[in-house]
Parts: sequence; structure tokens; C-alpha cells
Amino acid sequence: MEGNLQDGPDVEALMHTEEVFEPSDDFKAQANFSDPSVYERAEADPQAWWESWAHKLDWAKPWNTVLDWDAPWAKWFVGGELNVSHNCLDRHVLAGRGEKVAYHWIGEDGDTRTITYAGLLATTERFANVLKGLGVKPGDTVGIYLPMVPEAPAAMLACARIGAVHNVVFGGFSAEAVRERMATSHAQVLITADATLRRGEPLPMKASLDDALDTLPDMRHVVVVDRTGGKADTPMTEGRDVWWHEQMEAAEPSCPAEPFDSEHPLFVLYTSGSTAKPKGIQHTSGGYLTGVTATYSAVFDIKPETDVYWCAADIGWVTGHSYIVYGALANGATSVLYEGAPDYPHKGRFWEIIQNYGVTILYTAPTAIRTFIKWGREIPAGYDLSSLRLLGSVGEPINPRAWLWYREVIGGGHCPIVDTWWQTETGQIMITPLPGITATKPGSATRPFPGVSAAVVTHNGEIVEEGGGFLTLRRPWPGMARTIYMDPDRFQETYWTRFGPEVYDVGDAARIDEDGYFWVLGRTDDVINVSGHRLSTMEVESALVSHKGVAEAAVIGQSDEQTGQAITAFVTLESSVEQSDELLAELREHVAEKIGKLARPKRIIWSDELPKTRSGKIMRRLLRDIAEGRELGDVTTLRDPAVVGMIAERIQAGDED
Ligand code: WTA
Repeated sequence: MEGNLQDGPDVEALMHTEEVFEPSDDFKAQANFSDPSVYERAEADPQAWWESWAHKLDWAKPWNTVLDWDAPWAKWFVGGELNVSHNCLDRHVLAGRGEKVAYHWIGEDGDTRTITYAGLLATTERFANVLKGLGVKPGDTVGIYLPMVPEAPAAMLACARIGAVHNVVFGGFSAEAVRERMATSHAQVLITADATLRRGEPLPMKASLDDALDTLPDMRHVVVVDRTGGKADTPMTEGRDVWWHEQMEAAEPSCPAEPFDSEHPLFVLYTSGSTAKPKGIQHTSGGYLTGVTATYSAVFDIKPETDVYWCAADIGWVTGHSYIVYGALANGATSVLYEGAPDYPHKGRFWEIIQNYGVTILYTAPTAIRTFIKWGREIPAGYDLSSLRLLGSVGEPINPRAWLWYREVIGGGHCPIVDTWWQTETGQIMITPLPGITATKPGSATRPFPGVSAAVVTHNGEIVEEGGGFLTLRRPWPGMARTIYMDPDRFQETYWTRFGPEVYDVGDAARIDEDGYFWVLGRTDDVINVSGHRLSTMEVESALVSHKGVAEAAVIGQSDEQTGQAITAFVTLESSVEQSDELLAELREHVAEKIGKLARPKRIIWSDELPKTRSGKIMRRLLRDIAEGRELGDVTTLRDPAVVGMIAERIQAGDED
């Protein structure tokens, strides 16, 4: 794997602004954490620090050891037993907070539902009984492929309640992507919906899956949520497919939460890596819940009684798992759950929601912020955003310009911004400001969370005190992934080999400045980050070459003002196939079918040949340089240097079109 520090945003541009923003006295005075000594306390005894957070949860049986670490295999709160759904729901209801709102759900069509903790518990218990009735046992995998509807968190919590392992697939992925994720995780039940709404129109979900479902031998039952009230055509296979509402009516209301081992698996979530095969990242119960409880409370400075928190991510990504569902509910917070797009039915939709619900904390992605910038500041200016007191960013590096705009235009110049760096694999936020303590610099995720140890290292693994290199994590943390589902060797090799057996190799390039602040720059591996969504170059290449007309394909991430990175594909056709605009469109659709619309290449460049090393490896780095119009580096190892000139000409010709 090559480490290319030029990937992602430009270091110089990111570090350009000199401004530093100290937390205001007002914010400090009310902050959950305002004393910087928390960093030293946690550093002096990280296990005791995490243990203090675990004590905030309800355990059916206490742990006897905080951490059992045989790198890279971690066990947290060993011997302890708890039920995750009890901690997210029953605990609050039992304490008299049953009528507190867990979610203000806002449908795309303007439909709304208020879901209290007691209400969510009731739905979860019933649905847990439905799952049991369908034969789901502890340790079984249950797939979830749903729009952003309240049934999604309820289904996740119902799995947690009975010890089943959920495998949520983002609703924007294609049927083929769902099939692959269900097959490799041996899912026996899948929960989906008749349709999802897209700009007011139902887009069938269940019907789109039918062909794929027929090829899954382990899949015994499909539970279908009726999202559109029968507007979508939904064929049901007798004996396999059942309706959510019919099952719920027939189910027993009560399903007591059983305790499970702290290391009992909670979920698997597939994410893209350096190969064509997505990895099933496996998280467990006690440590994960502790990690997300701690970070949610400290980073978002949550006051469960008064805050209205809105994480605008989708539940299908790790951000949704950790900070819409588990972290938020474990803290007893009130969240907004929004189903639709930011520009439907109008471009002020986000700001209208913030105004109407009095949202105090907004957590979104830089790509969304850049879109809002493009739409113009007069749109948010038309709404009352004075309820906001904290802003968060996640998923990709945020450029200082977007950061400053976010602060001024959305935050009214007074909301601190928490730029949170983390990954599907880390489970919890790892590098972030604490808003009542940390002075922020636009574009920097600042410092490791208390108790977290991070460092930038050289190719050889030597720690860089100031400068650029590879980001590593150097001490276990409770929310960390425990393994790759059914593939422990791949887990060890991917993350715990390059810089030594006890050092987690993040896969990101970063820079550390004179104040010890981290500037995460982008991926060093073959992962592309499109609008905060992780995609692997190989995954897209393998989708392209599965088209009968394609002989070979190379895919790179190219900087894009809007989406951070965009997918550019270089495609060599079979000799009998003609290049045409129709074929171009067909290839883009083909990738959408194989993976999902989010993976459609923005640009396809025909190349009669691809630049390769003498050993036959495609030189992606060179393609990136050509596509970005950068000075070409060393091309002496290239098999046919003339290819480079040819491709560069093509790109230029294309740009002039
Ligand atoms: C990138 C999303 C810069 C990074 C939670 C990481 C970021 C990958 C940030 C994980 C940030 C995430 N600043 N880059 N604040 N947050 N990333 O697994 O490259 O979908 O490795 O998790 O997104 O993406 P994932």
C-alpha cells in the first residue's frame, strides 16, 4: 500500500488561517468539562477514567477486570453483564423519565411523530418479541435496510435487547450491496420498508431486493415496514415475508431485558477498505456503550434536560449508530430524527427544523456545509437559529473556509465547533475539542479525547513531534472494533501490523503542529471519501470490470469542491466495444446497481491503456497526479511512459468539452 501524503486536501491551504477561538466564559461556566486537568487525570490512569464512565451505566453483574489486552485483542469490563437496550431505555423510564422525548421524528413529507422513552421502549419490547417469534436467537445476525424512520432505532434496540447482532445497511446502497452484506454476515432476518420517499415519490425498497433475496439461503424472514401506506408495489413471498404492523399487533407487549456478557457482539457494520470486499466491523456491548456514552456527554456537552440535539447523519453509518442511537439514548437525550433531504421541499429545510424544534446542537458533515455555502447565506438568515449553542462536524476534513462560515452564519459567531475525528472502526469519537476547554483552530480536530493516545509517525513508525505523517492510535479504548466479522487475520493484518502489533494503523495522513494539534488530511490507502462516505477504489473498479464491455478500470479520488473527493474512473474497453456517451451513462448506472448511487463515478475517462509499473500494478498515484494537473513525479518505473501523455491529452480534451 502506498502512502501518499498529497492525498486529500492541501496541507498548506488547511493550515492557512491563524485564528484561534477560545471557549467563551459563558460557555465554560455551564460546560460539562471546563477544567483542563481532566486530560492529565485520564492520562495518569486511562483505565480508571473509562471505568468511571462505565459506572454511569446499569450493570446486571459488575466486571472484575477493566481491560484484558492481548494486542490486538481487547476485552473491556471483563466478567461484567449488561443489556444495552435496558441502558438506553428502561433505565430512563424506571427513573421517571418515560415521558421525555427520545426522538422528534420529521418525515420527508412533513409527517411528524413524537417518540418518548416509554413509547420507544414499548415498540422495542414488542419488536423484540416479533424477532423471537421469527426464531432469532442471541448471536444471530439481523439485517436492517430502512429509511430514517423511527422503526430503525427500535429495530436496532430490539436486536440489542435479545442479544441479536444487527447489520445495518445504508438505505442508499443497492440491492446487490445489501445481498453481499447479508450473505457474508449470514443474516437470517432482514428488516426493510416497502419504499423510501425521495422528493415526495415512493422509491421501492422491498421490491428492489426480491431478486437478491432469492439467492440468500440463510434468509428465513423479511419484515416489511409500510412506510407509504400501500403506495408502493410490494410483492410478499408467502412464508418468508411479513408486515411489521401485523407482526406487532400479534406480539406480546412485554419482553424483559436479559443481561449479556460485556463482550457480547452488538453489531457489525460494513465499511470500505483497501480491497473490493467491504469489511464487517464488529463491535461489542459494554465497552462500546461506555465509549459512546462518555464522548457523547463530553464532546456535545449534553444537558439531557434542556438540549435538543440533531445529528443529521443517516442511521446506516457509524455516526448514526453511535450518536443518533446508542450515545444519545444512553445519555437520555432528546434528538431530532429527520428522514429527508436538506433541499426538500425547499433549501431552508434544515434551518426551519432548527427554528421549529429549538435545536441546540447540530452535528453534520463538511460536505453539507459546503452545499449550504453554495446555496447562499441568505437562506439560513431567513430563520431564527438563536437556539443553537454548539456545532459539530464529522466524516471528512473541514476546510477553514467552511469552518468559519459554519461558525459565523449558522452559529451566530458564538457557538463552539467540535470537529470530531473518528472511524467506523474506532466506534467512538477519538480526536476532538472539548468545547468548554479546548481553543479551536479552523480545520483542526485538535487533541485526542482524554484517555486516548494518538501520534503521527513516519514510514518507519517513528513518532513525529511536529510535521506530517501517518496517524496512529497507541492504546486500547473501550469503543474499539474487536475484529472483522469472521476474519480475525484480516483485522490483525489491516490495522495492527504496519507499525507494530500494539499500534493501530488508522489509514489517514495527518499533521501535528507546534501546539500538538492534529490536522487530519485524508486517507493514505485506496479509500475515497465522497461527501463523507467511504468507498474503496477497488470496489468501484470491480463493479466497472463486471460490465461486459470493460477490459480494465482504474479508479481514483479527485479533489472536489463540493463533495471533498469525487470518483474518477479510467476505463479501457474491450477491443470490440465502441466508446460512446450512451456507454458512459450505462457504466455509471452499472456501478449504481452494483454498489449504490453514491459510488457512481463523476468522471469516466476512456484510456486505451493504463499506466502500469513493470510488475503490472496500476499506478493510481500517477493517475491522480495527471487528473489533478500536478507535476508528474518519477515515471521511470512505468512500462510505457507514452501512456501518460495520451491520458493527459484525453483529460484536457474532456475538460474543454
Ligand atoms: C475521515 C466516520 C478529517 C477519515 C465517523 C476517517 C475525518 C474516515 C473526520 C472514517 C474529521 C472522519 N476530519 N477526516 N473530523 N472524521 N474522517 O468510517 O479519513 O465512515 O478515516 O467514519 O473519515 O470514515 P467512517
